[in-house]
Amino acid sequence: MSSINSPKKKRILSGVKPTGKAHLGNYLGAMRNHVQMQDEYESFIFIADLHSRTTVKNAKELQQLIIDLALDYLALGLDPDKSVFFRQSDIHEHAELTWILNCVTPKSMLELAHAYKDAVAKGKEVNVGIFDYPVLMAVDILIYKPDLVPVGKDQKQHVEIARDIAGKFNRTYGEIFKIPEPYIPEEVAVVIGTDGQKMSKSYGNIIEIFAPEKTLKKQIMGIVTDSTPIDSPKDPGKDNVFKLYSYFANDSEKKELTEKYRSGGFGYGDAKKMLLEKVFEHFEPYRKKREELSKNLDYVREVLQKGAEKARAVASKTKAEVWEKVGLVIK
Ligand code: TRP
Repeated sequence: MSSINSPKKKRILSGVKPTGKAHLGNYLGAMRNHVQMQDEYESFIFIADLHSRTTVKNAKELQQLIIDLALDYLALGLDPDKSVFFRQSDIHEHAELTWILNCVTPKSMLELAHAYKDAVAKGKEVNVGIFDYPVLMAVDILIYKPDLVPVGKDQKQHVEIARDIAGKFNRTYGEIFKIPEPYIPEEVAVVIGTDGQKMSKSYGNIIEIFAPEKTLKKQIMGIVTDSTPIDSPKDPGKDNVFKLYSYFANDSEKKELTEKYRSGGFGYGDAKKMLLEKVFEHFEPYRKKREELSKNLDYVREVLQKGAEKARAVASKTKAEVWEKVGLVIK
């Protein structure tokens, strides 16, 4: 039975934007949690393809990115019988409701959004979509009335904006939206990339989860470390190779590597080789499953279609409530 029918479970909702190859930051910060949480929560997980439109300009590329992300999620174990898994653009209510919430959102609130300010500071193209990104995201969340929104730390502000918009709407028109809570597991709040900054495609510092071994090797061997000589003891607490390794290792493996760091005579290159092996081994079963799934895209399309039907049932109900409250239903 689909979890959508069990009223006692708390509801989670989250989305990932198809903008590039899935990397450890996406996996540890979001996708892995989403897969784990589907057992305990009533779960809505979606592909935020409308959000990608702010940056991905090539139609063919976007199409491919959407399919890739669907394959990634299903390969990683997202189960369409446990989670409502769908594509944002399949649910027209997201775009429709964005207009309504645009009209209660102060422009000054969006001017404070990190992503927008960052784009302005870097002299990037700032289209209206980038400016309005937090409102579309607020709708993504509010329309499904979730209890929790599991996201990485970088998305915290967006969830706060969603809370503010929901509060303002509710005060003006009556209680429709549930005020959502961000859920940010502390240990993976920020995953650091190969250059020491937050792992992000836009920084070119990612470690891909489904890359062929050669690519993975290049990315992992390229992790920046400090210049402590091989012979000297090293501090595992200050090294990103160790940190990344510890996400995948059990306690005794972590202890073993800690001792190697502390005793000296063990170089970062050796640690990187261990990390490479661990990451490759960890994703091996998922890689196989992904390969299988990629031969059956009809199945993937069907999953998304069925997910969209379930999502639409909820979204259209919220839309009807909003339309009624704001005066778009004539009696
Ligand atoms: N902005 C999110 C990101 O870049 C993706 C996203 C869009 C999202 N809509 C959402 C996440 C709603 C959680 C809930 O990662």
